[in-house]
Amino acid sequence: MSDEQPTYTGPERVFSGVQPSGNLTLGNYLGAIKRFVEMQDRHDCVYCVVDMHAITVWQDPTDLARATREVTAAYMAAGLDPKRSILFNQSKVLAHAELAWIFNCVARMGWMERMTQFKEKSGKHKERASLGLFAYPALMAADILAYKATHVPVGEDQKQHVELSRDIAQKFNNDYQRPGFFPLPEPVIQGAATRVMSLRDGAKKMSKSDPSDMSRINLTDDHDAIAAKFRKAKTDPHPLPAHESELEGRPEARNLLGIYAALADEELVTVLDKFAGAQFSQLKGELTELTIAKLTPITEEVTRLMADEGEIDRILEDGAARARAITEPIMAEVRQIVGFV
Ligand code: TYM
Repeated sequence: MSDEQPTYTGPERVFSGVQPSGNLTLGNYLGAIKRFVEMQDRHDCVYCVVDMHAITVWQDPTDLARATREVTAAYMAAGLDPKRSILFNQSKVLAHAELAWIFNCVARMGWMERMTQFKEKSGKHKERASLGLFAYPALMAADILAYKATHVPVGEDQKQHVELSRDIAQKFNNDYQRPGFFPLPEPVIQGAATRVMSLRDGAKKMSKSDPSDMSRINLTDDHDAIAAKFRKAKTDPHPLPAHESELEGRPEARNLLGIYAALADEELVTVLDKFAGAQFSQLKGELTELTIAKLTPITEEVTRLMADEGEIDRILEDGAARARAITEPIMAEVRQIVGFV
């Protein structure tokens, strides 16, 4: 699609979110949360716990509340500073729901039907999926555009949704003849672990919804669990290669080396150099140590923060108030553009 609109000239802003559904995985951490932390030094950042997205599939209310606080605690434990970045949960800021409705009327059914995540999550029984699951990407576009956010750090799996947000922004701007009103947000997908794969199958994404717990590292796993999961991780029969081109057709090797590089903050080439010719057992041993060293302080800090729910709730309330201060003038203009009296 063409981007030939007068460009948006407003300030740069970063927005992203994580669903409070089930445990956070190493994929969430390396593909998203670690990147969020890196961006907070150089940008205005808004990071959301997307509880409204979570209920597109059934969530037990007690679990949802706990997971919302846990994701907030994980944000902070990983290094997000609630004074510098805005941290809040989606349902506290009504602009998300309001703009999502307007975007439901801008987005086309055909666009939504092409979304691979909807196809995967709805499975064989599309007619039994919630209407919310189908409309999910319009809510995601509303999340981003209620802040006129320009940059969206995500893992590879969310790229299609961010691109749909661009299409929605562009159609809104065209339909209402307000060129450049909404920015066309850019997905920011960077680093060695933009798509962390299952430990049991290098062709499948590491996911909190995989039925096998052995397929993923959870941020709450203890040392023994991390060691056992890497020990049993799928491999292939060859020693580790020296060059990236030799990772072609070796998804398990690529995945474990990519995880190592992302955790160590090293380039993939450096890690390839380090393990060239080694057996998987050596990589697995070092990966276990590195993962434990990096995740333990985060896990311990999450536990500490979760002991004071009142404080987490105060942080979310403060973040929501600051979030509303950004969305209110934008929504006032949107209502006027749409013709709401
Ligand atoms: P969610 O909650 O599924 O995942 C949160 C973030 O983690 C990334 N991620 C991964 N990255 C690398 N490898 C993996 N195996 C892996 N698994 C998950 C995801 O790409 C994501 O960045 N729809 C979004 C949440 C959302 C959002 C938004 C994001 C709602 N509104 C607005 C950005 C902007 C989601 O379900 O993410």
